[in-house]
Amino acid sequence: DFMSEIMGLSVLEKQIKDKLQISNVIIVPGNSDKHEWVKQELGKACVGYLKQIVKSEITIAVTGGTTMAAVADVMTPLEKDSNYLFVPARGGIGEKVENQANTIVSEMARKTNGEYRLLYVPDPLSESTYQTIINEPSVNETLQQIKSADVVMHGIGDAIKMAERRKTSESLLQELKEKNAVSEAFGYYFNEYGSVVHKVRTVGIHLEDLVNINHVITIAGGTSKGQAIASYFKQGKTDVLITDEAAAKQLLRET
Ligand code: BG6
Repeated sequence: DFMSEIMGLSVLEKQIKDKLQISNVIIVPGNSDKHEWVKQELGKACVGYLKQIVKSEITIAVTGGTTMAAVADVMTPLEKDSNYLFVPARGGIGEKVENQANTIVSEMARKTNGEYRLLYVPDPLSESTYQTIINEPSVNETLQQIKSADVVMHGIGDAIKMAERRKTSESLLQELKEKNAVSEAFGYYFNEYGSVVHKVRTVGIHLEDLVNINHVITIAGGTSKGQAIASYFKQGKTDVLITDEAAAKQLLRET
């Protein structure tokens, strides 16, 4: 019944906190691999959490992905008389338009009466183009806003699935497989020990920036992401993990 369901989830939350060594875990019922509405539940949990932590003047950086798109779907105004700025955490990472961070931030801003900035930068970039682009005044201004964000909301993906979705070259795909990449976040690919095995050169938040950000919110669910979540948390700096029951149960089976 409902009560034992809730109690079961709080036991699971405690187990995940211990396993990942983080202080905040929110688990929603279900499996986002099987039902789209579970992603919306992750989204609602995220909006609820945001409401607890936001102050009136804040910058929120957001990654792309279907999970973040679901957060945007269920976004509601956060607080009265406030001034939110939504920025994409990184330049486009080869996603479909509806799953791009640029699209998601504009939607979140619309629903919260906030503002947004866009970052249209192709990727991967060559080293020389990267240096030129980040010194463009308009890009640089947005980049500074991104790096000084108060909140970052991001997804985690299965490494090979993400590489394929981004139409990664066959040679890089091979390399990721050889290096046993299992998870991906922010354009970084990690192996099961949480070591970075590849990094897509894009403009935006880099892993080392996360330590300076007040609230890092990680959202990922579904049985298929259990291993990816475990891998990411071997190194990831996160303040709260929002996940579903299926991912949490799978996560407990991972080493
Ligand atoms: C991407 C993020 O857009 O979404 C990645 O940049 C993340 O860091 C991915 O891995 C997750 O996608 P989804 O569709 O599984 O939520």
